[in-house]
Parts: sequence; structure tokens; C-alpha cells
Amino acid sequence: MDAQTYLSDLFSLDGRTALVTGGSSGIGRAIAGALARAGAGVVIVARREAELAAAVGELTDDGCRAARVSADLSTRDGVRAAAEEAAVAFGEPDILVNCAGVNLRPPLDDLGEDVWDATMAVNLEAPYLLGQRFGPGMAERGFGRIIHITSQQAHRAFVRSGAYGVSKGALESLARSQAEAWSPYGVTCNTLVPGFVPTPLNAHLSADPERVAALAARTMVGRNGLAGDFAGAAVFLASRASAYVTGQAIHVDGGFSVH
Ligand SMILES: NC(=O)c1ccc[n+]([C@@H]2O[C@H](COP(=O)([O-])OP(=O)(O)OC[C@H]3O[C@@H](n4cnc5c(N)ncnc54)[C@H](OP(=O)(O)O)[C@@H]3O)[C@@H](O)[C@H]2O)c1
Repeated sequence: MDAQTYLSDLFSLDGRTALVTGGSSGIGRAIAGALARAGAGVVIVARREAELAAAVGELTDDGCRAARVSADLSTRDGVRAAAEEAAVAFGEPDILVNCAGVNLRPPLDDLGEDVWDATMAVNLEAPYLLGQRFGPGMAERGFGRIIHITSQQAHRAFVRSGAYGVSKGALESLARSQAEAWSPYGVTCNTLVPGFVPTPLNAHLSADPERVAALAARTMVGRNGLAGDFAGAAVFLASRASAYVTGQAIHVDGGFSVH
């Protein structure tokens, strides 16, 4: 067997369909691009049309299969409508990546029910509802991959974790519950845990060079993350190669979390 065939057997996503929420920006855009370039037809779900069009255009220009759904995942009806529309372009997804997220972190004393609700809706309820919509079908077909994007705050209180950390901690628990339910049927469910990755999500923090440098110094690799750092891990978790990896939180953080 030549190397190309060997690698394809392990990692190719040819013929697969993926749904990537938040795939129009930052980490999600890199993951959507990686899955599409590995062969999957990728449907990107987010709100803003221009960003969606740019992300899909980049992939189709590259010869990939990509489509978009503009939807607001902060309401249950919005999630349900997005799920139905997303299944139209390439059929029911084999791979679900929950990357859309909001990062609202006022000091806990000021954290009101509005921030709590908005955080839980996008960061936790949308992944739960999409899992309920697509997980059983994946199990019935005997193959599925669910990948959630969590955070350092799922594991430690850190720069005002607030409701955000709670939502991400719960998302890791959701991955374990989903893994327990569906792994016997070929559906693995895992999370990728970033360190600090300068993106529009944390533009405020990225504008403070001292804090950016301090965060880089806290890693072992010696730099902050890049969206592209998630490409390989996402393809691995979406591929046949990860069939025996489930319920896990895989840190893609340059060693940030281990000291
Ligand atoms: N960057 C980091 O350092 C870091 C660290 C730990 C974890 N994370 C996690 O990584 C994920 C991606 O973050 P990122 O840094 O790549 O952020 P980003 O560049 O701001 O991307 C966020 C994505 O989510 C979408 N989104 C947000 N609210 C939405 C809603 N209500 N409905 C539909 N789509 C929505 C955005 O599109 P629209 O705004 O157009 O809807 C965008 O595509 C998030 O879950 C975040 O919590 C990031």
C-alpha cells in the first residue's frame, strides 16, 4: 500500500458531510476549511452573511464542497430551523462541529440573567439541540463524529470565567453524555480545548500587547494559538482514525494547561 492510500484510509473525509457552526470566523473557519480540504462537504452556520459568503467562497474557489446557512443559534427555534436548512445542501451530516460561541464575561457581581441566558443559549443549548437532532441519525447509520469547542475555563477559573466557564464545563459533560449514548453505534463525541487564540471573539484582549505576551509566556510552546492549529486535530477527530477516541477533551493549547 502506498503512503497516500494509507493516509486516506485513516483520515480522508471523502463522501462525508459536515455541519460547522461558527465556521465563518476564527477557529471555526479554520476547522471548516480543514474538513472541506480533507474531502467533506461542509455546511457553515452563523449569522452574518458577508462573513459566511467569504468563508464559503474561499472553499469553493479551492475546489471544495461548501454551503452556508445564515441563522441565529441563540434561540431554540433558530437552532431547529438552522438544522433543517443545513441538512438540505449535502444531506444529513456525518460530522457535527459546535464552534459558534459567545464570550460575555462581566465581573460575577454584575453578571445578570440576560448574560447568563445568552451564554447558555449559544454555547450550550445550541450544541445540545443539534446533537439531539443529528446524533440519533448518525447512530442509526453507524458512523458519526461530534466535536465541541470548549475552553480553558471548562477546567479552571481564569479571567472572569463567569457564565462562560460554566457553559464550557457543561459542554464537556454533554460530550461525555453523548459519548455514552452513541459511541456503541459508531458515533464518537469529543471536545477540542483551545488556549488563547487571537480572534474577533477576544479582540479587546488581543489589543493589549502586555496581556497577549503574558498569555504566550504561559504556554510551553512559547506562542499563542493560531486558528490553523486546530486543523489537524479536527480532521483526526472527524475521521475514521479516531474511532476509539470518545468522551475526551483534547487540549490544543501549546501546553498552556499542563503547568
Ligand atoms: N479564541 C480563543 O482564544 C478561544 C479560546 C477558547 C475557546 N474558544 C471558543 O472557540 C469558539 C470559536 O471562537 P473564535 O475565537 O473562533 O470566535 P469568532 O472568530 O468570534 O467566531 C465565532 C463564530 O460564532 C458565530 N456565532 C456567534 N454567535 C452566534 C449566534 N448567535 N448564532 C450563530 N452563530 C454565531 C460567529 O458568526 P456571527 O457572529 O456572524 O454569527 C462566528 O462565526 C467559541 O466557541 C469560543 O468560545 C475560543
